[in-house]
Amino acid sequence: MNLYRLRAVTLALALGASGMACESEEAFPNLDELDQLRSLHSLGRTPPKDSTNRVDGVARAEALGDLLFHDTGLSRCGTVSCASCHGGEGLTVSTAKAEGCDGHLSERNPPTLLNVAYNRWFMWDGRADRLWSQAILPLLNPVEMNADAQVVRARLLAESTYATEYQALFGKTPADETDSALLANVGKVMAAYQRTLVRIDAPFDTDVRRFIAAAEAGQAEADPAYLGLKTFLRKGQCIVCHKGPALTDDLFHNIGVEDDSPGAGGQWSVLEPLLDWEFNAASLHSDAPTGTIAARLQTLRAQADRETLEGAFRTPSLRNLTLTAPYMHTGEQATLEEVIDFYNEGGGAPGTFVGKKTVTMVPLNLSNEEKRALVTLLQSMTGTTPP
Ligand code: HEC
Ligand code: HEC
Repeated sequence: MNLYRLRAVTLALALGASGMACESEEAFPNLDELDQLRSLHSLGRTPPKDSTNRVDGVARAEALGDLLFHDTGLSRCGTVSCASCHGGEGLTVSTAKAEGCDGHLSERNPPTLLNVAYNRWFMWDGRADRLWSQAILPLLNPVEMNADAQVVRARLLAESTYATEYQALFGKTPADETDSALLANVGKVMAAYQRTLVRIDAPFDTDVRRFIAAAEAGQAEADPAYLGLKTFLRKGQCIVCHKGPALTDDLFHNIGVEDDSPGAGGQWSVLEPLLDWEFNAASLHSDAPTGTIAARLQTLRAQADRETLEGAFRTPSLRNLTLTAPYMHTGEQATLEEVIDFYNEGGGAPGTFVGKKTVTMVPLNLSNEEKRALVTLLQSMTGTTPP
């Protein structure tokens, strides 16, 4: 951290603690903050390609993935497709949990699939490290699609288009494929389709660019985005975790969201299973050379620290929030106002979640005006679908 930044943080903490008036505060944005602002806007037009998925970016795979994503025949009960829980404009549901086979409820709030291929980790706890392997989990999950390789194979063989397209992409018919290879390949076409689900170019991007120009001209305070951005960077400390053009650090933090479910342990509980999983990015179903990926996973295991990872969940992107309520992995917060109140209180009360809250989660003492400015800022992050 350089001197500017250190001063800003110390000052912010001092102001927060003493409730001092803001006269002595350094002008916003300082040079460091200007750099942070420059990194926020303009998410790339297409998500990065996944080298472990050989059909990623292949139009034929995207088309087959689209059909499979919407096919209830891939579930054992015959009534649930991926789209059942990832539908509508927000590609999610508007309830805290979603309904799978036989009326069972999902354990967590379904994340949106908009911009999902920009993610580094999948699931709230990161138990999948690739988009294609993620798809195998809901297929097999008894409370979601409750299927297995037999159900999936039978469905692929029942539709001639599916079987033909599958063979064209993978060189074998679904009938000749091993169970694991079949599931991995279905995951790969589903992932190819999901990589096309992007929604970027939000008013936020225009506002940040305009604000930077205003700041460079010494006019920051007159800009309508001033208070929202200042609170996001300074008093709210949101930028610590929600950074970069996707507004996430791609990491896991315990922010104290109330949870007493079996999955409340967050990333700490899923690391070992991920490293041993037959479908992880270093597995034989991965299409990329596995040496470096395996090494990276081993390092992750070696460096894992219980204190930081227990009860830690993935920092979600903040793009498209107006389409994806309710919020957090439990879906417990119905509105963005509730989210801001949660942060303003420094996160949940001790004893209502597993593990230790990260040190940045402290009461923020936001004024009503600052809270409103943050909500307006978050609302401006909803993008448009590219033509
Ligand atoms: C019954 C509802 C349900 C169905 C059916 C379902 N999902 Fe999900 N999906 C969820 C829930 C809940 C989560 C979050 C689970 C967690 O984090 O523990 C999720 C997470 C995901 C994620 C991770 C997103 C992220 O940002 O981490 C992806 C990708 C996804 N689902 C794709 C699919 C695909 C592809 C299918 C079909 C094969 C599917 N889902 C079927 C409910 C569902
Ligand atoms: C220490 C890291 C950290 C900081 C600081 C932080 N967040 Fe978060 N944010 C997270 C994590 C992690 C989650 C998901 C937590 C969960 O579900 O358990 C989250 C979730 C959210 C969500 C819900 C998104 C969704 O799709 O459900 C919103 C909105 C949000 N944060 C906004 C903010 C704002 C505004 C600030 C500043 C006032 C902020 N965050 C500060 C890490 C952080």
